[in-house]
Amino acid sequence: MKKHTIHLKNNITYTCDENTSLLKAALDNDISLEYSCFEARCRSCKVKVLEGKVENLQEEKVLTAEEKVAGYVLSCNVVPRSDIRLDIEDLGVKLPASQVSPCKISNITHINGNIVEVVLRLPPKVDFQFLAGQYVDIIRNGHKRSYSISHSQYESNQLKLFIRNYEGGLFSNYWFNEAKPNDLLRVEGPLGTFFYRHNEVCTDIVLLATGTGIAPIKAILEQLQASPELLVNKKVWLLWGGRKKEDLFWKPDFTFAHFEYIPVLTREDDWQGAKGYVQEIASAQAISWPTAQVYACGSEAMIQSAQELLTKQGLKGENFFADAFVAGK
Ligand code: FES
Repeated sequence: MKKHTIHLKNNITYTCDENTSLLKAALDNDISLEYSCFEARCRSCKVKVLEGKVENLQEEKVLTAEEKVAGYVLSCNVVPRSDIRLDIEDLGVKLPASQVSPCKISNITHINGNIVEVVLRLPPKVDFQFLAGQYVDIIRNGHKRSYSISHSQYESNQLKLFIRNYEGGLFSNYWFNEAKPNDLLRVEGPLGTFFYRHNEVCTDIVLLATGTGIAPIKAILEQLQASPELLVNKKVWLLWGGRKKEDLFWKPDFTFAHFEYIPVLTREDDWQGAKGYVQEIASAQAISWPTAQVYACGSEAMIQSAQELLTKQGLKGENFFADAFVAGK
């Protein structure tokens, strides 16, 4: 199989054969590049090709015509046809190795009609390390669905997930009507690069979530709570949005000094709090956007709108980190 050399901006190189995506080869070589869905849908692996020829693995439907003309591709969806030079540096962190493990449902709690919390138990010999904010794929009957881990540390061989009921969703009927303790499943992970990036000069850490997008945000908050040295001279903002009160199904009772929680609802009449979209409410706060970092998890619409709106306010593009729910993810 013909192999090509891939060059990153910070002089890191790796080899990639003509059947393997640039992203997969990087991860196989322990080189961390930004990614989430792995399915050419979320855009998080978007990268500019400076030199060389690539081909799409599947028809690419998410980049704009302007982005394509400018040389952008999705690294999860392109294979090399020559040596390649990419306009990107690696993330400079070693991602925990992804693995597939059997697991059993330890506990399943119906938080309300639309949300369950599932606790999975992995075999004692499995060491499932992850970074707060990463996700896993659950594999059942040959199908996969992705869920963010809702806590920051692997303890007691357990993984906890918040799962929303999607009408007609492939796994929803299972989680909400059939799943029971001791059911055997498989889990693959950890996956994705949604995790906290410590930045000394950052003054405001802004966490935006809609619905069960709170799961990885909760994990990051737990990490920050456990590591106060990360928060020197920083204020942490959490804006969590839903339609109705029951969509905000968890209470963020963190105690660190500079923490502000703003619950936001769109369709609740009996509500004195913030109304509207999280990104709009965030943009009206006393946040120093040029020195802020934003971590956003939730609907694609929220993420796209937040990125546009907040970069207009002065947020630097490289300080916006997102994990979008894409259909089927
Ligand atoms: S589009 Fe490539 S990882 Fe989501």
